[in-house]
Amino acid sequence: MASALLELRDLEVSFAIGGRTYPALQQLAFAVGERETVGIVGESGCGKSLTSLSVMGLLPETAAITKGGIVWNGKLLDTQSPNGWSEVRGRRVSMIFQNPMSALNPLIPVGKQIAEMAVIHLGVPKREAKRLAMERMADVGLSRIERLYDDYPHQLSGGMMQRIMIAMALISGPQLLIADEPTTALDVTIQAQILELLKELNRSTGTAMLFISHDLGVIREVCRRVIVMYAGYIVEEAPVEAILERPKHPYTVGLLQSLPSADKRGQPLHTIPGRVPALTDRGAGCPFAGRCASISEICRTTVPELKPIAGGHRVRCHLYTDGGKEQ
Ligand SMILES: Nc1ncnc2c1ncn2[C@@H]1O[C@H](COP(=O)(O)OP(=O)(O)O)[C@@H](O)[C@H]1O
Ligand SMILES: [Mg+2]
Repeated sequence: MASALLELRDLEVSFAIGGRTYPALQQLAFAVGERETVGIVGESGCGKSLTSLSVMGLLPETAAITKGGIVWNGKLLDTQSPNGWSEVRGRRVSMIFQNPMSALNPLIPVGKQIAEMAVIHLGVPKREAKRLAMERMADVGLSRIERLYDDYPHQLSGGMMQRIMIAMALISGPQLLIADEPTTALDVTIQAQILELLKELNRSTGTAMLFISHDLGVIREVCRRVIVMYAGYIVEEAPVEAILERPKHPYTVGLLQSLPSADKRGQPLHTIPGRVPALTDRGAGCPFAGRCASISEICRTTVPELKPIAGGHRVRCHLYTDGGKEQ
């Protein structure tokens, strides 16, 4: 991996609920290198969005970073102060969300909203901002830009709106783009176009990408490396081919079995029995213990460490620790 742009060091993020604190992210440690494409996958409620919001400094008011730190380009960010990383956020790291409609102002033409970002982040005068906004709109594959510039969000289709969001995220020339379920709300064909666009932007601009999705099928289209999250923990991390061909963690195995494929056509899709435990309902042992078919005694009492194993994987599972049967 090239030198790390972003590094999370044993990050813990907790919610205050009814006078108690509940950790939602624990021992979160990973890095994203320059130009790298890293995916985060896991079912709903695993902590994917909280991870991206932590990096963006956009955590909900009831949540806080309770341990660990975030390092940007080798510099530890002051995550406790509201302005601790305002220099980085939005300019060096930008984000696109699942629902562009809620991120855009319905009362302002879309082109102008992009131009306003150029004024804020680049400090350029309005005319120049408009020119740059139109350039980025072309970069993301939009056409008839003169007219589109003055359109309001409701006049655009979902796919066009997501392209507008990507243009807006790119306007500051970020080194890292965080995309949280950017195609989940779109039709399958539009989804494929947006994924292609993101891949192409990574190649042409060198912007690194942290791509979040509940769908491993989407992640494998865009990313070189995958982080699998479960109940606030990283449970496995590996290059995408290694995850697809040799998944290690029982949760990753389950996710792969539930992926549709040509050879499973006509058969019912596998589902992992049970669900991600709520924050207030997480026990002492392995977070996946309640749903795991390979459970042993230690899994109920002790959270496994995230350990490197052969094949470029890191895995958090007692099956792969000393004494585990699959060592
Ligand atoms: N504002 C909130 N208040 C309380 N709990 C929350 C809040 N936002 C998220 N959570 C909880 O934190 C956990 C992780 O949520 P999230 O990061 O949104 O998951 P994902 O994006 O993987 O679906 C879940 O258990 C969720 O219920
Ligand atoms: Mg989410």
